[in-house]
Amino acid sequence: MDSIRVGMLGFGNVGTGTYQTLLMNQDRIEQTVGTNVDIVKILVNDINKKRTIDVPHGVYTSDVNDIIKDPDIDIMVEVMGGIEPATSYMLSAMEYGKHVVTANKAAVAAHFDELHKVATDNHVQFRMEASVGGGIPVLSPITSVLRANKFEEILGILNGTTNYILTQMSENGMSYEAALKQAQELGFAEADPTADVEGIDVANKLSILMALGFDHHILPTDIPTTGITKVTPEQLADAKERGKVIKLIASAVNSGSELKYSVKPTELPLDHPLAMVKNEFNAVFLKGNAVDELMFYGKGAGPMPTGSAVAGDILQIVAEELR
Ligand code: NDP
Ligand code: HSE
Repeated sequence: MDSIRVGMLGFGNVGTGTYQTLLMNQDRIEQTVGTNVDIVKILVNDINKKRTIDVPHGVYTSDVNDIIKDPDIDIMVEVMGGIEPATSYMLSAMEYGKHVVTANKAAVAAHFDELHKVATDNHVQFRMEASVGGGIPVLSPITSVLRANKFEEILGILNGTTNYILTQMSENGMSYEAALKQAQELGFAEADPTADVEGIDVANKLSILMALGFDHHILPTDIPTTGITKVTPEQLADAKERGKVIKLIASAVNSGSELKYSVKPTELPLDHPLAMVKNEFNAVFLKGNAVDELMFYGKGAGPMPTGSAVAGDILQIVAEELR
């Protein structure tokens, strides 16, 4: 079979991680899905920028229509970030009959219903595994093997940058500023890290988890949210002395008649399962009325773990739609 042609919006942390994942495992991918997956066009802001990965001549473009309107491109991957123009580009691509994969939780949380409706109306797939928990596969299980459950509780550490900062401050005595700088250098942070440190990124992810788990789309701006900017080294040290640790916790409880949700720094006892989740690792705890308690754990940020999830969504579309 001919190769699957992918157009990608963005070639930063996640875009390069996705490209590298597909490249380094090309032989296995070809064997298991029966075809090559080729990234044939990449939209960037600056086509002359020096990059860490070499791509063939002519792949970069600064015109999104080279991807959206190219009838030979099967799948569009959106890893450029921001709510707009990313959302409009995804909607257009689906209207042009392309399957869409995204890691962009800000866009998904803001336009969850519209993105899913346009996908359904145009008989294409809209996949977003990387948008919550980076490399952790949590969204697919909620919508597949766990579908027989009603979910009662979602609890988690959903941001790699802030978990990295809190871990480094608490365990290594690093300053907030130095830890944030490292998280940026390691490719965990958002282009504007305010979204990380003020808890907005976690609210986006909790909104998506509630939409899938509770069938209620709560806008992230309606989730009471406190970030980590006011957590001091003294508070972290004091918690440690008392056998506790401070984590940025997303929590949602569905009692059946009422939904309660929040994002805030929370003290946990050291033997709590979420207390052991360190650095860029994330964890999502779910309680379903049949399966009972489940916990998903893994790297919640970073180019390669996130690239793994994006590439996985591409291959799922190939397996289900294009083979
Ligand atoms: P980066 O800032 O590293 O990369 C963004 C890329 O998009 C750059 O290549 C940039 O081009 C391009 N871009 C941005 N805006 C435009 C535009 N208007 N037109 C054309 N190109 C544009 O971001 P990340 O890779 O870190 O994140 C991408 C998405 O993935 C975001 O939605 C983020 O929330 C999400 N995500 C990130 C994770 C991570 O660990 N970093 C994990 C999970 C999700 P240029 O290079 O020329 O500037
Ligand atoms: N900035 C995000 C984080 C990226 O640090 O978790 C992964 O969604």
